[in-house]
Amino acid sequence: MSKVVAIVSSPRHEGNSATIVDSVIDGAMGLSTNIISLHCLHTMLIHGCNACGACKVKGHCVTEDELTRVLDDIRDADGIIVSTPVYFGGPCAQYKMFEDRLYSFISDKGVSTLPKGKKAVVVVTCGGPAKVGKAVCDRIAKNLEMLGIEIVGDIVYSDDGGTKRAEDDADVLSKAKEFGKTFRTNYREYDPHYQSHES
Ligand SMILES: Cc1cc2nc3c(=O)[nH]c(=O)nc-3n(C[C@H](O)[C@H](O)[C@H](O)COP(=O)(O)O)c2cc1C
Repeated sequence: MSKVVAIVSSPRHEGNSATIVDSVIDGAMGLSTNIISLHCLHTMLIHGCNACGACKVKGHCVTEDELTRVLDDIRDADGIIVSTPVYFGGPCAQYKMFEDRLYSFISDKGVSTLPKGKKAVVVVTCGGPAKVGKAVCDRIAKNLEMLGIEIVGDIVYSDDGGTKRAEDDADVLSKAKEFGKTFRTNYREYDPHYQSHES
């Protein structure tokens, strides 16, 4: 059994990033016994990093808000799915608040305090050319890698100025599902007597 935490930071409930994250979750579930926690940041009362430095002394973020639970889930998770739309060339404000709070997982010696072995999938959506989303995606991936998290997949999706929807793009949804499968424990598929009926 793996614990998987998914972060949706777009304010659009059924938007492109939320749809793609759904497919990653779909892949992560399958016939596994994975536990999924889904956090929709824009519905939560959250703050950014206060730069108080307390995490460097206490080993955890002392700001208590709805991100506290998210950070606890990140510490416990085996698999992490993060997502953001591109807003003005960067991640949206909700994602940035979350990302800045990950600073609490860096010790006073500058090393990650997160347990090793975590894997992540990064999802970034944009309206302009995919290279805009790719730049944001690479930056997010780099920051997660700095925390010792291995990136097992990334998806950049452009809605072409709002003319397309991820839910109509079978290729992107299938790619997302495949990435999600890397979070599976697959214990039943190791059983030679078990026959999967999944496509
Ligand atoms: C406030 C705002 C700023 C945006 N800025 C950009 C941008 O700088 N570059 C870009 O390619 N798309 C930009 N977009 C478009 C979104 O990134 C795009 O529509 C994305 O697919 C939305 O994803 P979502 O449905 O998951 O929210 C912006 C949209 C909004 C609402």
